[in-house]
Amino acid sequence: MSDLGSHDRVRAIQWAEDRLQLLDQRRLPGEEIYLSLTDVGAVADAIRDMVVRGAPAIGITAAFGAVLAARHRYMEDRQAWRETLQTDLALLGGARPTAVNLGWALARVGECLKTVRGDPEPVLLALAREIHQQDITANRRMGELGAALIEPGSGVLTHCNTGSLATGGYGTALGVIRSAWAAGRLSAVFADETRPWLQGARLTAWELVQDAIPVSLLVDGAAAHLMKSGQVQWLVVGSDRIAANGDVANKIGTYAAAVAAHHHGVKVMVVAPCSTVDMNTPTGADIPIEIRPESEVLELAGQSVAARGAKAWNPAFDITPAQLVDAIVTERGVVERPDPAGMKALMS
Ligand code: MRU
Repeated sequence: MSDLGSHDRVRAIQWAEDRLQLLDQRRLPGEEIYLSLTDVGAVADAIRDMVVRGAPAIGITAAFGAVLAARHRYMEDRQAWRETLQTDLALLGGARPTAVNLGWALARVGECLKTVRGDPEPVLLALAREIHQQDITANRRMGELGAALIEPGSGVLTHCNTGSLATGGYGTALGVIRSAWAAGRLSAVFADETRPWLQGARLTAWELVQDAIPVSLLVDGAAAHLMKSGQVQWLVVGSDRIAANGDVANKIGTYAAAVAAHHHGVKVMVVAPCSTVDMNTPTGADIPIEIRPESEVLELAGQSVAARGAKAWNPAFDITPAQLVDAIVTERGVVERPDPAGMKALMS
């Protein structure tokens, strides 16, 4: 396994001999339990049911899921495996719609398969490991680039979980916060609790506490009030898909936080690897937004919290227009005030 370095002790996705092990993020912070998966259907379920979540982590998981699928299909029929494998790749690709990293990773699997002669498992396993390692390397680079934008003495607010749990390791927005903290640039770290799945309260806070980085949680509705108080200078978030014009899809509530940031002169930094940039999607309006079950809003930890008879609307993501973004930080560099030309220059 790669160098874990300081401020990064979690690996949510692990390959152990012949199987995929996923830290069940639904049970954090109370229990640290790894699920052992050998079947592609179980991997697709794990992505859809939030065992593993976060755009880069979903892509890495899908790449390992393809290894399991290829093993099964090759053992089943050494002539027809390429055709039958397509059904499994489509199953993985359909697990969640918004994070483009999923399709990006499966496209790399598809390209790799063109070169395979004989047993596909070792070749796809090497690819999945490479995708995993490249994500960690990208996160380290983004950490440096993003931290350099933050003036010493700044407070930051983040939303959702973008750390080691959401990526191959280290994190995107949380990687920038880790790097900025290590460089002594931060006066305070705030995290939205992030309803309804509480990724901020359960996961981001868990990671930061383990790293001994002080964090204050707030309910999502308190973000504008925090910004008005002057305690934060940057809103630092990740993304599930960045369109060709610089519009950003991210966890529901990011748009509201970015509007409030704009109003209060707080800068907005979006941190994401190039695998999150989708130049085939022209604008945010073209990004599919996942609508999740009503029960996630009406219930909390399996207990009903809403008036009986109420319905719920549960979009998992929203779109922050490029005009509200001060900087997009990728491993290839920073795009300030993103627009179509800036995104094109980054990706070409
Ligand atoms: O529904 P989730 O938990 O998968 O949503 C995750 C996010 O929105 C993250 O901000 C995004 O995937 C970037 S993770 C580095």
